[in-house]
Amino acid sequence: MTATITSIAHYLPPDVYPNSYFEKYLDTSDEWIKARTGISERRFIKDGATSDMIIPAAKQCLERRGFKPEDIDCIIVATVTPDHMFPATACVVQNKLGATNAWGFDLSAACSGFLFALVTAASLVESGTVKNVLLCGADKMSSILNFEDRAQAVLFGDGAGVVLLEKSKDKEYGIIDHILHIDGAGGPYLHQVAGGSYKPASIDTVTNKEHYIYQDGQAVFKAAVVGMADVSLEIMQKNKLESEDVAWLVPHQANLRIIAATANRMGLDKDKVMINIDRYGNTTAGTIPICLSEWLDMGKLHKGDRLVLSSFGAGFTWGAIYLRWGMNK
Ligand code: ACO
Repeated sequence: MTATITSIAHYLPPDVYPNSYFEKYLDTSDEWIKARTGISERRFIKDGATSDMIIPAAKQCLERRGFKPEDIDCIIVATVTPDHMFPATACVVQNKLGATNAWGFDLSAACSGFLFALVTAASLVESGTVKNVLLCGADKMSSILNFEDRAQAVLFGDGAGVVLLEKSKDKEYGIIDHILHIDGAGGPYLHQVAGGSYKPASIDTVTNKEHYIYQDGQAVFKAAVVGMADVSLEIMQKNKLESEDVAWLVPHQANLRIIAATANRMGLDKDKVMINIDRYGNTTAGTIPICLSEWLDMGKLHKGDRLVLSSFGAGFTWGAIYLRWGMNK
């Protein structure tokens, strides 16, 4: 049995922040940000939490499939910016949607959150544990960004992507293979120091700005360039895919240079790579489902397309999924 995506939608906050927004008060420039990251602008949500971006996307996703909230069996939210430490944002989403028959949980794998959750959701569907999963990849990165630090403020954005996963009627379509990794030795290079049980919130943690992202950009860059490219090539080789077989690489959008290195390693031309980092920055768990949803909306994603999804993020977490897209617009 194969699990496949049967509906998809995304939500991006309306407020756009171009690179020039940061130029006004930080020692940075549009040229530096574009050249080093590929980002031109991003969206930040003014009012509301991560669940407030998930709900409009989830409603549209269900509507497109003709599902009512009570038809949902399970809700998984991949995020590192949950509405609260607890309860899980899945519970908040369940309540706001009125998904009275669903259970669910949150999954924390940073930028690889959507991939890890997709494999988890597929296993639940394939085993017959549930009939469907509403899988949400969403982050309000603006809630953990230090806007006074040019090294991180310019990199991220807010956004949400939601997919519905069900049993595939035709086993040719759906999630075919995956390779996923974690390596906790990478933790110190990209993390949020305080706010958990290791270092609970205190006056000191606030004063020392320990509730924001900490990132050693260069160390993460070096690991990401190798990790994402290696795992993407490995999944191609494992499934005997040539570059001409791959319709789209759907990469996590952290840095255009990491994406280019991955595409290059796979032997893919730029026109086979989904890229929207220029418009949205890094929305963490949101990047991959937002890409898929946008490309479907634009009529560029077709039933039968062979896709490689790949990511690298905090943890370290990284991996790739090979799937055959099973729906038309
Ligand atoms: N504007 C201008 N200058 C800047 C900025 C900025 N916004 N940010 C940093 N600089 C400066 C630095 O201070 C440094 O100056 P110096 O040479 O005088 O010391 C110089 O630019 C070069 O800095 P680097 O850190 O070496 O720049 P780099 O080319 O590595 O780019 C970046 C930084 C974009 C963060 C890159 O390292 C990167 O993309 N890292 C990986 C990010 C990633 O993949 N994260 C994982 C996903 S996120 C998640 O999981 C939550």
